[in-house]
Amino acid sequence: MLKVEDIHTYYGDSHILQGVSLDVGKGEVIGILGRNGMGKTTLIRSLIGFTPPRSGIVKFQGEEINDKRPFQIAKLGMSVVPQGRQIFPSLSVEENLKVVFRSTSDGWTLKRVYDLFPPLQDRSDYQGNRLSGGEQQMLAIGRSLMTNPSLLLMDEPTEGLAPLFVKKVGEVIRKLQQTGISILLVEQNLQFTIRQTDHIHVMNRGMIVHSSSPQELEENHEIRSKYLGV
Ligand SMILES: Nc1ncnc2c1ncn2[C@@H]1O[C@H](COP(=O)(O)OP(=O)(O)OP(=O)(O)O)[C@@H](O)[C@H]1O
Ligand SMILES: [Mg+2]
Repeated sequence: MLKVEDIHTYYGDSHILQGVSLDVGKGEVIGILGRNGMGKTTLIRSLIGFTPPRSGIVKFQGEEINDKRPFQIAKLGMSVVPQGRQIFPSLSVEENLKVVFRSTSDGWTLKRVYDLFPPLQDRSDYQGNRLSGGEQQMLAIGRSLMTNPSLLLMDEPTEGLAPLFVKKVGEVIRKLQQTGISILLVEQNLQFTIRQTDHIHVMNRGMIVHSSSPQELEENHEIRSKYLGV
């Protein structure tokens, strides 16, 4: 599905990603954990083409995508749920969903998104900026699904959410996984990531410094305290 080999990404002269490699298989949920400023969003930007890596290889669905533009990569089936939701504030809930719609046979539709998130249907004519943080996160996920992705990149989806919504995001990830979608889940919430993923990479200063099963990370106090402060 996704294969990343030794990518290096810069902002100007700042060398941020320093040789990141990872794989995401079909139907897998892979976690990336790391503290503030360690390069997690930069990794997502590198994959979707906003800040393409200067070296290394990104392969998606068997195709090298390093030189492709974000809209071309999106068309191949990659979608981002961005950090901070990035809802279109002056569009209604329904417009937020419809504006990115890309239909496929028996894929996601407005109706299916509303079935997944009934509160969004109740608020379909609300402007995006009138929603609570939790509702905005549901909308951000729903909007991504409207592009009918095969790989979802989620950038800190639980950031700033009340426990009830964190739980909801967890349920949604599990439901999506059952549909066969692949997910790269970027997080700072260790317990959430341990519960939701099949495999976890820990990121520190633009490098992956530990990779293991969720259970192994849970038991590895040295790595947890050194790189995650927990
Ligand atoms: N547009 C930019 N121009 C220059 N430097 C940037 C830019 N965006 C991020 N950086 C720097 O790159 C490094 C990695 O940032 P990044 O946003 O990828 O971290 P992050 O792991 O997503 O952090 P957070 O958990 O706070 O979202 C940081 O040192 C940050 O200051
Ligand atoms: Mg970030």
